[in-house]
Amino acid sequence: MMGRLERAFNISDLRRLARKRLPRPIFDYIDGGADDEWTLKRNHDAFADYELLPDVLIDTSSIRSETTLFGQKIAWPLILSPTGLTRMFHDDAELAVARAAARHGLMYSLSTLGTTRLEALAESFAGPKAFQIYIFKDRGLTAEFIGRCREAGYHALMLTVDTPVAGNRERDRFNGLSIPPRLTLKSMLSFAMKPSWSLPALTGNKFDFANVSHKVDALAGRQMSLFDYIGGQFDRTLTWRDVEWLAKEWNGPLSIKGVMAPQDAKHAIASGATSIMISNHGGRQLDGAPAPVDQIAPIRDAIGDSGEIVCDGGIRRGSDVVKALALGANACSIGRPYLYGLAAGGEAGVHRALGLLHEEFERTMVLAGVNDVAKLERRHIRMRSWLSWAEDGVVIGK
Ligand SMILES: Cc1cc2nc3c(=O)[nH]c(=O)nc-3n(C[C@H](O)[C@H](O)[C@H](O)COP(=O)(O)O)c2cc1C
Repeated sequence: MMGRLERAFNISDLRRLARKRLPRPIFDYIDGGADDEWTLKRNHDAFADYELLPDVLIDTSSIRSETTLFGQKIAWPLILSPTGLTRMFHDDAELAVARAAARHGLMYSLSTLGTTRLEALAESFAGPKAFQIYIFKDRGLTAEFIGRCREAGYHALMLTVDTPVAGNRERDRFNGLSIPPRLTLKSMLSFAMKPSWSLPALTGNKFDFANVSHKVDALAGRQMSLFDYIGGQFDRTLTWRDVEWLAKEWNGPLSIKGVMAPQDAKHAIASGATSIMISNHGGRQLDGAPAPVDQIAPIRDAIGDSGEIVCDGGIRRGSDVVKALALGANACSIGRPYLYGLAAGGEAGVHRALGLLHEEFERTMVLAGVNDVAKLERRHIRMRSWLSWAEDGVVIGK
């Protein structure tokens, strides 16, 4: 008999399984976005504006999908974005995700707000790995991260720059979500109805921000909203000067995560970054921001070959990755798709999510008649709106 996970045939099925398994406030924390969730919705919907124009009669008996990102080989152009508080979704937390990433030859990134120490992750995960940095008011932490990451063998740093303040996640406010989660009268029922979700997670001590708590004890013995935590701890005075400093100190692959504008992409490269993650934080920060996929071509045109581009956010199908590459990205990255898998079934669930996306990716490459990721070009993609405008008699296009 097929298990639950085997009966999930796409990311949307895994999302449904995650919703069944998690208490509502926890599911909403993963699934939700800021304000009206316009950007969250747009991030994925925007992919539907692009069509793939297939080549035919090409030998696609084998597909070359291996590529290099942040100086590391990855099996296909996908990486796992950093996500904080992972232990809330499954007891096995970051290690389960990293192990599944390793099975697929993909890069894993650990968040500053992760619940596993960066050294512990590195000890049990030999694959390509990045550490994502949030800069705290305590600047000593950033210098410390650089040293610890170098020591532990991290291959790249990502600096997230779209979170000077936490976005307005109204689902979390409505649910009264606190870190660690607390049993209120309102949430009691929702937690009680999901016994398969680990109750020990509620006890609190597992909710340490394991990489920062030795320096920042804002959570010690207390519960607060993520909004208040970020408001109290993150440094809003951050500027490009800090990027220059970080690039010099780290002197290795550095990605700036959260760049949306071509001008900022150029600035990032000029400041010493080696790559850009086009991202609006999965629609969790600035509502009304454009979809990352729509910014790939303008940013590629702005920076040429001077840096790598990762399209982060909205990817729900392997075909989305093919579209992003054709527009000029080097790779894509995902957050929720692997978290739905994790919540649905731990490491096996993440494995399922990555396997489904990979299958879809390869099948799309075959059907598009492209046998090597390096051969995907803009001529393989066109924007639907160009077509409809043309049909209306207003000819726009390239
Ligand atoms: C539950 C959750 C937690 C996240 N935590 C972080 C974080 O700690 N640091 C960070 O840079 N981005 C964080 N992100 C954003 C992801 O890295 C990524 O940009 C986003 O999930 C991409 O969109 P997608 O979910 O549509 O793939 C988080 C996203 C989610 C869903």
